[in-house]
Amino acid sequence: MPNDPARDRLIQRLPKVELHLHIEGTLEPEMMFSLAAKHGVKLPYASVEAVRAAYAFHDLQSFLDLYYAGCDVLRDRRDFYALAMAYFTRAHADNVVHAELFFDPQTHTVRGVSMEVVIAGLRDAMDDAHRRYGMTSDLILCFLRHLPEEDALATLDAALPFLSDLTGVGLDSGERGNPPAKFARVFAKARALGLRAVAHAGEEGPAAYITEALDVLGVERIDHGVRCDEDPALVERLVRDRIPLTVCPLSNLKLCVVKDLSQHNFAKLLRRGVAVTINSDDPAYFGGYIGENYRATATALDLTDAELVTVAENAARASFLPARAITGLLTKIRTEARRDQD
Ligand code: ADE
Ligand code: ZN
Repeated sequence: MPNDPARDRLIQRLPKVELHLHIEGTLEPEMMFSLAAKHGVKLPYASVEAVRAAYAFHDLQSFLDLYYAGCDVLRDRRDFYALAMAYFTRAHADNVVHAELFFDPQTHTVRGVSMEVVIAGLRDAMDDAHRRYGMTSDLILCFLRHLPEEDALATLDAALPFLSDLTGVGLDSGERGNPPAKFARVFAKARALGLRAVAHAGEEGPAAYITEALDVLGVERIDHGVRCDEDPALVERLVRDRIPLTVCPLSNLKLCVVKDLSQHNFAKLLRRGVAVTINSDDPAYFGGYIGENYRATATALDLTDAELVTVAENAARASFLPARAITGLLTKIRTEARRDQD
């Protein structure tokens, strides 16, 4: 289907919630270069264009190798502020009203950048985004699943002084061979501390990892989860228990999880009644922020206006906002949906 200007206007106007966004994945090449110059870091690229040209990925790991290398330019509190503020400004342009940010502290602490520097810089930007744009946001600390659970436990311990800055914990990095059950103890500990729990599962890994994340880690949302349809009983469960999936269509395309967006199962899952949402994952690397993810998905799968409204509502309901804020947001979404029809 070609682009539909009226549908694009609706997408722009819908108040959006972003639930799957790695803040380190918003590091645009321009900022990578300016921070590298600031800190005297030598990048293995001659230009911004050369960085972008390197972003041709064949799977998750080929992306992660560049993503972790890029993080080396993030060194002080101002860097984390600048990174997150640039994201909030971009997200505000897409009418994002609430964002739940993932961050990967282990990527930074291993380089000698403290948990305090990372969280303080991100919090500065979160406060500014609220002041400037009225945008609310939360932090979700992700454990790197390719590392041992002992490292994740030490990371949770290092985060204890900042517990009030955190809303939840997540699980990311290379999925294959790193099942959710490997992190059972650290998730149990995080949940006992009152943190909410999410996990990447069923991106490259099997549907069984989704079931395991739900049953063993006790997560409330699944990040990606697109391989759920390899297990019809699991899809049934996702529908029945209204377990949200934070899907990232352009990420799935760039990491070759799907060959073509027109073959993505997003519309099939939506029409089956799964609480799917649209998110941008690592937009600096995958070529589109949340608005572009909505537009590309709507175009490729011919989503109706009503379906787009449902997707925005799913995201509001799946958020960790207080119930009253969710109700208010749902009202705003419906008001915008009606306005477009007038
Ligand atoms: N870290 C950043 N983006 C990720 C993704 N899409 N999957 C797993 N880990 C990630
Ligand atoms: Zn992700």
